Amino acid sequence: MKKVYLIGYMGSGKSAIGKRLSFSTRLPFYDMDTEIEKRLGMTIPEIFEKHGEAYFREKETEFLRTFRNENCIIATGGGVAMRRENRELMRSSGLVFYLNAPFRDIWRRISTDRNRPIVQRSTRIELEQLYNERLPHYLKAAHFKVETENRTLRQVTEYLAFQIGRLKGDI
Ligand code: S3P
Repeated sequence: MKKVYLIGYMGSGKSAIGKRLSFSTRLPFYDMDTEIEKRLGMTIPEIFEKHGEAYFREKETEFLRTFRNENCIIATGGGVAMRRENRELMRSSGLVFYLNAPFRDIWRRISTDRNRPIVQRSTRIELEQLYNERLPHYLKAAHFKVETENRTLRQVTEYLAFQIGRLKGDI
């Protein structure tokens, strides 16, 4: 096996599940946004403000191209699956899990968040449109679609750990 990528919309639980999964699989956990912030010495809102979204998207691809080659779990940013190159980079270097959550759950989690520039600049309707636009890209990128609705973090984590254990010799 190599990397385990968690993809999905903002607020779908990628970081929360990634941390738990790291504990149960004993694989190191990395949050892509945090790694990009460390590389650039700026927060995500600062990167968007100073350099713009296109620059941030370049940094995401650069991260996927260059991040160390080790078995690990990576929580990606919600926009990562939109680029074909990113989808190919993830699929060819590990296992990709799409965490699916209904928009109403997502909205509840992200609506008051100040660290997500996309949320700051968008209305609820726009965010729901973006959610629908992104869905087919998540599906194209993923090896597995994981439903999180009505499941606890523990249940979702156990399911992922089971699949990783089952497949770790294969990729
Ligand atoms: C983004 C999602 C964020 C972060 C940035 C842009 C997006 O990550 O990468 O604010 O375009 O959906 P999370 O999915 O971890 O919130």
